[in-house]
Amino acid sequence: METPTRITVNASGKYDILLRKGGLSGIGQAVAEISKPCKIAVLSDDKVFPLYGKSVIESLEKAGFSTVCHIIPNGEQSKTLDNVTAFIDSMVKAQVTRTDMVLALGGGVVGDMAGFAAAIYLRGIPYIQVPTTLLAAVDSSVGGKTAVDISAGKNLVGAFHQPALVYLDTETLNTLDPAVMRDGFAEVLKYGFILDRELAHTTARPGTFDLEQVIARCISIKRDVVEKDEFDKGLRGLLNFGHTFGHAIEKLSGFTITHGSAVARGMIIAAKVAKVYGFTDYTDVITKIVKDYGFETECPFSADELYGVILSDKKRSGADITLVLPKEIGACTLEKMPAAQVLELMKKAGL
Ligand code: GLY
Repeated sequence: METPTRITVNASGKYDILLRKGGLSGIGQAVAEISKPCKIAVLSDDKVFPLYGKSVIESLEKAGFSTVCHIIPNGEQSKTLDNVTAFIDSMVKAQVTRTDMVLALGGGVVGDMAGFAAAIYLRGIPYIQVPTTLLAAVDSSVGGKTAVDISAGKNLVGAFHQPALVYLDTETLNTLDPAVMRDGFAEVLKYGFILDRELAHTTARPGTFDLEQVIARCISIKRDVVEKDEFDKGLRGLLNFGHTFGHAIEKLSGFTITHGSAVARGMIIAAKVAKVYGFTDYTDVITKIVKDYGFETECPFSADELYGVILSDKKRSGADITLVLPKEIGACTLEKMPAAQVLELMKKAGL
């Protein structure tokens, strides 16, 4: 097995992100480097567990860990408080204690839920992220944001809780549906647009770059942001480029428009809004790149519909909303404005 790429995060907890190819059978050894033998409560879903559950469990048990598994249905509709309660009940039944651990094997839904359960169970136990989607690899598994959705909106209940280890086998991405893989590319493009012109250039055309290197670059950008602003008081807001509008699109579509697809459209809306706000117009540049990845570029909802959802967004502070707007490709800024101005700008931008 090749030596992993190691990216260390120095946040409230210090942890490594290990990237390797064909390495799920090395998970036990990697966990043994950070923990004594203990019980590991694995959360996974019914799409991922049949593919990778056996090799993860075997590897953990070979390294001296005992395991209990809880499987949820694949998909965003599973990211509920009820499912977190059921997972916690299964940990109580298995007598998981504070010296034990949670392990998330799956995409963003499983990672966010497992992290949240680990944050609140017994007032917090350690957890490990094993992301198996591109989106989870470059975004949700890193940085300690954990959450579930409630009827009022996405990720409205959650906690900051850094993982003890992130273990990514890039070969798991080979089994992803093309649509799920594409979803992850919305987050990859985001990193280039917000903070790295060279990355934006590298990723402008799909299929023309080394994916492992790009994933490592995205994770390093996220690491740098999280180290400076772990608790999302300022700079970290840049990672929400396209997300204020994207979350509203997801919610209004009843989650039939996926996260990546909604964020892709959200980034185009942000570019349109930036133009009417007075910045240089990058709408055509962003729209072309997003379109080349196969994303839909039109928003099916009006400014008023989007605004209704944006008002319940957690990125709002008091009467103000902070938008992430592109000033240049590779240089987004945070623009705080009264909520009503967001509606006005969206209308001016033709939504
Ligand atoms: N996904 C955005 C963040 O972690 O801050």
